[in-house]
Amino acid sequence: MEKRIAVLAGDGIGPEVTAEAVKVLDTVAAKFGHTFSYDPVLIGGCSIDRHGVPITEEALSVCKASDGVLLGAVGGPKWDTCPADIRPEKALLAVRKELGLFSNLRPTKLFPQLASASPLKEEIVAKGIDLLIVRELIGGIYFGRRQTVSTPEGKAAEDVMSYAEYEIERIGRVAFETARKRNRKLASVDKANVLDTSRLWREVMHRLSAEYPDVEYADYLVDNCAMQLIRNPQQFDVIVTENMFGDILSDEASMLTGSIGMMPSASLAAEGPGMYEPIHGSAPDITGKNIANPLGTILSAAMMLRYSFDMAEEADAVEAAVEAVLDAGYRTGDIMQDGCTPVSCSAMGSLVAERV
Ligand code: IPM
Ligand code: MG
Repeated sequence: MEKRIAVLAGDGIGPEVTAEAVKVLDTVAAKFGHTFSYDPVLIGGCSIDRHGVPITEEALSVCKASDGVLLGAVGGPKWDTCPADIRPEKALLAVRKELGLFSNLRPTKLFPQLASASPLKEEIVAKGIDLLIVRELIGGIYFGRRQTVSTPEGKAAEDVMSYAEYEIERIGRVAFETARKRNRKLASVDKANVLDTSRLWREVMHRLSAEYPDVEYADYLVDNCAMQLIRNPQQFDVIVTENMFGDILSDEASMLTGSIGMMPSASLAAEGPGMYEPIHGSAPDITGKNIANPLGTILSAAMMLRYSFDMAEEADAVEAAVEAVLDAGYRTGDIMQDGCTPVSCSAMGSLVAERV
């Protein structure tokens, strides 16, 4: 098959980790008889420097015309003082919105080889951690009206969180369907004891739940969920939640595995290309040193193969290659353990590619 991939390497370690994912994709193409072509697109600080905006209309069109979008990371201290509407993060939100990527899948899986990196107690980690956060990605407080005004008492600011029934329903369906393909357990997270958006969220989820009697459903308040993730992560299979709760809980969940550098994500629309990115940021402190962990991006590329290209066998091969490299004891600095072999970012990419 022929596929066009828009590569948004971005800032900081973004270019280093995406280069390794492309290396692995090239091996997949050669091994399985596909042709992947890559369109580099500027996003974030590098686009601000070149074009004065974090993403151009033309760049967005390249993404829309692609079969899949691979993203590294955006942002860095250099652009932290940019005005709100041209911040690098703005571009990420624009791509999500423009491509209609309402469904963000963030798998949190503990690789047994890395269990000692988890900050949780050994007896909790020993039972394994394998959960999936389904985060609503183009609604809620991220996209509501916001403003800062001056009042006689000083400045005031507001950010509006709103959800329409259809927005809740479509992410709910993705979550129930996904749960069906896993262990048939769904936790819906809200703050229904306080927020109207959450009460509507819960109402819609309950209605859907009746359509999926084979999926064991439970409501969690977001504060309780944050606690339960640490107390007993094994109680979760799929977690569905709104945009901001999902942002916060997914960082928390990733830490349970001890290695944010390992975690991939997929952002999907009802139709059209999906976007795939590691959940870590641009890591300016280690940029340009060839020491970043490319596995989160490589595993994101595997998700692209699986979800956008329908290449399950190829995706399995990449995931198995990552496991094999970990089994063989190769580690980047962030996941280094006694007795293991330290490797650079580019060496890690090559080791995975060799094993595909
Ligand atoms: C994420 C990030 C983004 C978000 C930022 C960079 C805008 O934290 O993908 O989780 O909040 O969605
Ligand atoms: Mg986040």
